[in-house]
Amino acid sequence: MIPLISVVGTGRVGSSIAFLCVSNALDDVLLVNRTKDKALGESLDISSAIPSNSKFSIRGTDDYSELVGSDVVVITASVGVYTKDRSENMDIQVKMIKNIAEKIKQYCPSAIVLIISNPLDVLTYYFQKSSGFSRFKVIGIASSLDTSRFRYCISETLDVPQSSVQNALVLGEHGDSMVPIFSGVSVGGNPLFSMIDSRDTISENVRNYWKTLRNFKSRSQFGIAKNTFDVIESILNKKEIEIPASIVLEGEYGEYNVSMGVPVKIDQNGVSQIREINLDDDELSLLKKSSEKIRSDIKLVSH
Ligand code: LAC
Repeated sequence: MIPLISVVGTGRVGSSIAFLCVSNALDDVLLVNRTKDKALGESLDISSAIPSNSKFSIRGTDDYSELVGSDVVVITASVGVYTKDRSENMDIQVKMIKNIAEKIKQYCPSAIVLIISNPLDVLTYYFQKSSGFSRFKVIGIASSLDTSRFRYCISETLDVPQSSVQNALVLGEHGDSMVPIFSGVSVGGNPLFSMIDSRDTISENVRNYWKTLRNFKSRSQFGIAKNTFDVIESILNKKEIEIPASIVLEGEYGEYNVSMGVPVKIDQNGVSQIREINLDDDELSLLKKSSEKIRSDIKLVSH
């Protein structure tokens, strides 16, 4: 089996992504984990979710050489557990991503790589720099998750269905400095601004969503899995998807030497366009602060 979708890291998130790909008969899936039995166990379990009319399969391994031929590689691996901030364990996570980058460069140099592991923006940056892959082929998936949470928080606050909330968008760091973009949001066709008197409560709820969730379960799983699956499905079915995602910037939004969440279009070849949208002064200022936070984290690791 030549796996078109490879998932590196088979914890809750990686296995949920693999489950969605297999149960939707998207393509062959390879699960890679440093503990082989973990990959084997998840692949045996998910094999029972293969639709009867599907020609695709799933396999588990600890051998990176089996990545050969992968079109899309998803990286959810983690060597550390963070509790208070996604940037904890940054040093060992960066060492891990550089190691994985070397293997992906060796075995599937033309793959599109979706980074899920945290700290998301720092790891997206270091994967792209150490692999030498085109920046358009290294995509950090997280701002679309934050956007889902933003839409949910708005719908809960206003007691309206999510379908009535249009153009919700979160940019910047997948972290405390993330920037919910209120200026473009409409609810039932009316500007959100006409319905709320402050951004603060909703912004805090979005930023702290992952911590709130951890009061009830150990970590998030399904939201990030579905947001990642949507990108994989779009790439492999040669469609185009428009989401916010982390990508290394070279002048867009006036930013350099950083990877952060910005609006992008993604097609079967990776990012086809970085969209520079209008932001109000508050949003621009917060986005600048967010890029500075990520850049300072990036610099911390390089020493
Ligand atoms: C979260 C993880 C995916 O925000 O960073 O739940």
